[in-house]
Amino acid sequence: MTRASYFNLNAKLKMEVIIRTSPEEAAELASRLIAARMRAKPELVLGLATGRTMERVYDRLVAKHQKEGLDFSICRTFNLDEYIGVPPEDEHSYRYYMNHHLFSRVNIDLANTHVPDGMATDLRAAAAHYEQLIQEAGGIDVQLLGIGEAGHIGFNEPLSALMSRTRDKALMPLTRQQNAEMFGGDPDKVPKRAVTMGVGTILDARELLLLATGRAKASILAKAVEGPITAMISASAIQLHPNCKVIIDEDAARELKERQYYDWIFQNEPEWEEFRA
Ligand code: F6R
Repeated sequence: MTRASYFNLNAKLKMEVIIRTSPEEAAELASRLIAARMRAKPELVLGLATGRTMERVYDRLVAKHQKEGLDFSICRTFNLDEYIGVPPEDEHSYRYYMNHHLFSRVNIDLANTHVPDGMATDLRAAAAHYEQLIQEAGGIDVQLLGIGEAGHIGFNEPLSALMSRTRDKALMPLTRQQNAEMFGGDPDKVPKRAVTMGVGTILDARELLLLATGRAKASILAKAVEGPITAMISASAIQLHPNCKVIIDEDAARELKERQYYDWIFQNEPEWEEFRA
């Protein structure tokens, strides 16, 4: 895709839901979209997420780097969130996750990668600095998002203001339960707080790509996409965004009411042609 067609695609502002047959196919489509954006704009500012859903996306981006020469050398990244009190070298930190799953496997300049500082003594100042760094980079071009079972994007737990900015946030019991697997199965070992981009910070990105897979996400995904916009489900705020793609597998799509329409869009709209095969 040329730089011009990238901006033409961006000019067609809308929210779309794309349903793929499996988690692998959903991750493949998400990674192809990211790769297309990176090829069109090598200095892309990419917003990144962690979590199990994203591992498949990062594996595919690494494969594209190795097999197709996808170039990360001048792209810049900003992660959504980080646990408070977990140092970057700890395997539970999101900095460690990113280095492990993506950064150490591609030709990215680590100086161009950013993860919120969960060890800062002044968390408020560090959060403001993070917002400033995003601004100085020219804003986020594409923000990758997962969705938590509590309906969060980033760690924007229920009642996160839709205009919130990067800040620290207490995690819900459901979120700590959901993430216990990475802490030996014990929810009490999951940190109680995290620094997260705000909902407003996320909505400022020029394009959103939300990826969700698996049966456990079906109910919350349907609420986020087809339900009312509410601060109780921060993911529902994506409905306010003019350029948002929701990429899901069959299991995550099970509770959507309008899937025939979503399928028709993917099968018929011309900008999806190159991604159908
Ligand atoms: C992680 C993040 C979270 C996750 C969400 C889904 O950086 O921002 O919102 O995307 O909790 O996590 P998984 O993919 O593990 O189900």
